[in-house]
Amino acid sequence: HRDLLGLAGLAPHELLFLLDEAEQWVDLNRHAQKRAEVLSGLTIINAFFENSTRTLLSFEIAGKRLGADVINMHAATSSVKKGETLIDTALTLNAMRADGIVIRHASSGAVRLIAEKVDCPVLNAGDGQHEHPTQGLLDALTMRRAFRERGESGEPFCGLKVVICGDILHSRVARSNIHALTTLGAEVRVCAPPALMPAEIEQLKVTPYHDFDAALAGADVVMMLRLQLERMQGQFVPSPREYRHLYGLTVDRLAKAAPGAFVMHPGPMNRGIEIDSNVADDPRCSLITTQVEMGVAMRMACLDVLTRRGRGVEGWQ
Ligand code: CP
Repeated sequence: HRDLLGLAGLAPHELLFLLDEAEQWVDLNRHAQKRAEVLSGLTIINAFFENSTRTLLSFEIAGKRLGADVINMHAATSSVKKGETLIDTALTLNAMRADGIVIRHASSGAVRLIAEKVDCPVLNAGDGQHEHPTQGLLDALTMRRAFRERGESGEPFCGLKVVICGDILHSRVARSNIHALTTLGAEVRVCAPPALMPAEIEQLKVTPYHDFDAALAGADVVMMLRLQLERMQGQFVPSPREYRHLYGLTVDRLAKAAPGAFVMHPGPMNRGIEIDSNVADDPRCSLITTQVEMGVAMRMACLDVLTRRGRGVEGWQ
């Protein structure tokens, strides 16, 4: 079987294949009867060792709309709390003969460790600061559809100027987006205060900025990230007030981007810190609720494609 642990290393045709697969599910999800029985008889386990609203619910909805039995395991109410190890938890899930396991974990690499121990496809729902591949895919799908709906023809990612601003250091969303967008031909600028810019940024095909206004010049898409205060013990970062002054997306700041620039945020948002409500809630520019809608379709596509081989359907090569 094949897992989805990250977007690093995927070829452009593989990313575009997954985006194309999701389109049919966007259409289905807009119908009154949102059902397709392609995963009928399959069991999908969502094992979440960290909190989630969007990713957990959309994987659950995605599995159910495709006809699978979906079971959610929350670490907080599981035997993890009694000290059971990650490997023993993985072996336990495996013994229940799941057909797909979706995992979120606070440690980078934990999802790969589980994938090595189980017999079914594993989908990474966010591991530490490493990757959040379905978020990167749903963001790419959201962008592609937004530019196409505006009537722009051709391949929307080629030369697209995307600014990713915020807590890059702690962001698995940033890493997955960087991998997907640079592979698809976009020009990616990352912007963060020095304390929140990872050292390894030099190894990625992105342009780093500390000055948000400079990063915004001519940008087609502005993706804001949440300040992950829970992961910042002991690190120097600006106060929320200073942060908004330097890095908050306000109406005035957005005017520095290209005319008609789109605004994105993976959620959850710190309103009034990294993004102002009158930007986040402006339907002319904000794609934030569309991102959530695309999340369900994208996760349906990933569950379908990754379980194909187990269902005897030609798999994802
Ligand atoms: N974007 C995202 O992963 O949100 P959740 O943490 O709510 O799943």
